[in-house]
Amino acid sequence: MDKYYITTPIYYPSGRYHIGTAYTTVVADTVKKYKTLRGYDTYLLTGADEHGQKIETVAKKNNMTPQEHVDHMADVAKELWAKMKIENDDFIRTTEERHIKPVQQIFEKFLENGDIYKGTYEGMYCVPCETYFTKTQLVDGKCPDCGRDVVLMKEEAYFFNMKKYADRLIKLYEESDFITPEFRKTEMINNFIKPGLEDLCVTRTNFDWGIKVNSDPNHVIYVWLDALTNYITALGYLSEDDSKFKKYWPADLQIVGKDIARFHLIYWPIFLMALDLPLPKKILVHNWITMKDGKMSKSKGNVVYPELLIDRYGLDATRYFLLREMPVAQDGIFSPESFVERFNFDLCNDLGNLLNRTVSMVNKYFEGVVPKYVGQVNDVDKELEEYTLKQIKLVEEHLEKFEFANCLQELWSIISRTNKYIDETMPWSLEKEGETLKLQSCMNHLIEALRKIGIMLLPFMEETAKNILKQIGLENGENSWESIYDVDKIPENTAVIKKGEPLFMRLNVEEEIEYIKEGMK
Ligand code: ME8
Ligand code: MG
Repeated sequence: MDKYYITTPIYYPSGRYHIGTAYTTVVADTVKKYKTLRGYDTYLLTGADEHGQKIETVAKKNNMTPQEHVDHMADVAKELWAKMKIENDDFIRTTEERHIKPVQQIFEKFLENGDIYKGTYEGMYCVPCETYFTKTQLVDGKCPDCGRDVVLMKEEAYFFNMKKYADRLIKLYEESDFITPEFRKTEMINNFIKPGLEDLCVTRTNFDWGIKVNSDPNHVIYVWLDALTNYITALGYLSEDDSKFKKYWPADLQIVGKDIARFHLIYWPIFLMALDLPLPKKILVHNWITMKDGKMSKSKGNVVYPELLIDRYGLDATRYFLLREMPVAQDGIFSPESFVERFNFDLCNDLGNLLNRTVSMVNKYFEGVVPKYVGQVNDVDKELEEYTLKQIKLVEEHLEKFEFANCLQELWSIISRTNKYIDETMPWSLEKEGETLKLQSCMNHLIEALRKIGIMLLPFMEETAKNILKQIGLENGENSWESIYDVDKIPENTAVIKKGEPLFMRLNVEEEIEYIKEGMK
């Protein structure tokens, strides 16, 4: 069995997790579920990035020790991921012994090999971003990432010799499809590699909340060197039991937002080269969820927390919206209007009605027993079969390329086409005219389409998908991904549910838009 290792960033436990963080995690979980369906031995890692000055400051503000604060926040994160049915196999915390020890060893290894040397650092530092910038990187004298003030800092520090690896890095970019989407590659080369990679300052002395350098404990290891290694420490790298590391490394897919692309596309592969370890196969960089008035921020009062949507509209509607509305390679906009619209149109009208109409017709015309496949009897049977097959291929292609919005769009075309098939075949007339064979064929085709739709929805909206399969009597069927390419997969005596629950109840547009807006304040 082939393995498939997926990671999310480890998020800062500095505040509640909003739909941006949830988005990355849902993307990772969707890939995990899809790859599992395709027969891979999958492993999904997420976790918390618990060290650094920012965390120290937040804890103080909350009258807690940093440890108390991160303990509490780890519970908050785990609860959220459980609520969102995220199937992570582990949750790594950078304050855990299993992480701290190997990070210290990694640092010493870098020292021994001459990748890290001691020097003096002078630079402009952004405290919230925990990042040093050169004067030329600043934008109007402010942090280029967050736009806040930077401070001049000077300290004795250790540096990582990045230049040494620049050529290998460029070669990696050129010879593999390490980076998705492609334009991020050009961005890295033009903005960071061509101007010359600067050595990275990898220690701090101005605060305590971090991992100490073993051989020089006045120095705390830079949070990004600490954090990036989570992807291997979580698997037991340099520990007594490194069987998971041996099995799952290198990662097959590492998912990150565009804000942290630089760290994952430049520093991370270089650290791995210095450790002489295999590199991840692919890093997927996604864009941001934004609001109509720009970035989400507490001060603007436009932050959306996933609980607001999940508690009222359900997990599946929330997951559907995030994946349908956010193209991975462009920013996507969250708006209450589009959320309610997608809920009513895509989920209630298109998907919900198709299931409802089909199940009640099979009940009415065939006492709930799905007729066997009888070939292409209606004029449009062949067309529906061919169209569906063509669309399934597109769905799979997009999913393989992590283009979730396009994937769902193509999947919804099958749903619309199948709804149209009902209008074209007019089963109610077939029944009046005593066209039993045609009616049988129509019902079989509808259930067959729903079977395929249900299976394809499994990675995206598992509960809904299972509910569909249950209502059409196939919850314990074969349900393999591969079976969606077949037209004749409904066993004899398959019975639909007598009265299925509607998948989604239509929303009152104005009321719900108001509700979401209220919840964002
Ligand atoms: O950067 N839209 O943690 P973080 C989409 N600890 N995704 C978003 C988003 C938005 N508006 N806002 C955040 C850190 N994200 C480090 C990571 S990894 C070794 C260390 C997602 O809590 C996106 O994945 O700031 C982004 O990269 C991540 O949250 C940043 O999370
Ligand atoms: Mg951030």
